[in-house]
Amino acid sequence: MKARVLSGVQPSGNLHLGNYLGALKNWAEIQSDYESIFCIVDLHAITVYQEPEELVSKIRETAALFIAAGIDPEQSSIVVQSSVSGHAELAWMLTCVTPLGWLNRMTQFKAKSEKQDTIGDGLLQYPVLMAADILLYQAKIVPVGEDQSQHLELTRDIAQRFNAQYGETFNVPETRLPTVGARIMGLDDPTVKMSKSVTGTNHAIALLDPPEVVRKKIARATTDSQPGVDPENMGAGIANLFTIANACDPAVTRSVVAGMRYGDFKKRVAEAVVARLEPIQKKYKEITTEPGYIDAVLQRGLERVLPIAQDTIRTTKRAMGLYVPGGSV
Ligand code: TYM
Repeated sequence: MKARVLSGVQPSGNLHLGNYLGALKNWAEIQSDYESIFCIVDLHAITVYQEPEELVSKIRETAALFIAAGIDPEQSSIVVQSSVSGHAELAWMLTCVTPLGWLNRMTQFKAKSEKQDTIGDGLLQYPVLMAADILLYQAKIVPVGEDQSQHLELTRDIAQRFNAQYGETFNVPETRLPTVGARIMGLDDPTVKMSKSVTGTNHAIALLDPPEVVRKKIARATTDSQPGVDPENMGAGIANLFTIANACDPAVTRSVVAGMRYGDFKKRVAEAVVARLEPIQKKYKEITTEPGYIDAVLQRGLERVLPIAQDTIRTTKRAMGLYVPGGSV
């Protein structure tokens, strides 16, 4: 039997090149070696207010982008998190074994809560829900970008603590980072990671940005005042553009870009990105014009994963001594 992979993306804002290079590209590459489940984590998205009408359309858009980026719905299950009630149920059970101090230490919680007037409880519980996503399916491998590493550590700690208190129940998952592109930085500021929640127009390259927009954004990306690319000594902006280009097109190596003037280098980077996004955008257009296609994919994903989720919920309830209707075994 193939080992199971699980990962997820929040359907908030526009999916960008960081999401693709840090996560989706890697998912597409490994999906045939595993039994893969890819979630659109809408319950995570609502930890910060989302316009309801926009959220529901972003959920479908995210599913379509998974497929456009190479996730094969015949092979992998694409699932909306809130359609499987086990995510929220397990999150509560795990909340009850998670010390508050562990959650207070999460750097993403600290960063996000600084931006809010009132800090919702959901923001603190966010990583426990993430642990539930993973443990619900007894996933072995979790392919993510580097920013999720601390949440994955916490997931392992929660699984181990639960197993120690209630007996061996959960598999302890491994984090899988991509070799290139685990942390893509903002084009406008290469000291902060590229993020859906930053609103600046020149911050991120969205997966659906047309070629001329991609070229313009890269041409405007922040660099330094060196005359050309020194592969041994790249400033943060140039290093980020190089990582982007190399992850999009491995033919763009250090020796290829050595000595290039920044203007020419940026053109080469833009071509690598445009060429990488072109088939994704084409596929996206195809599948979003086919009525009912996305809903059918989500329904199929749900039907495949539901029995796994229900099984874990029953096992967890039994381990904790909760009542399982209709079954004492
Ligand atoms: P999210 O929606 O912020 O990001 C989705 C995926 O994209 C990666 N990523 C990046 N990789 C490289 N460079 C970047 N600038 C960059 N920005 C984002 C993220 O690491 C992630 O892999 N909490 C998660 C979603 C989640 C999840 C899960 C992931 C919920 N449950 C269970 C794995 C397993 C999140 O907010 O990702």
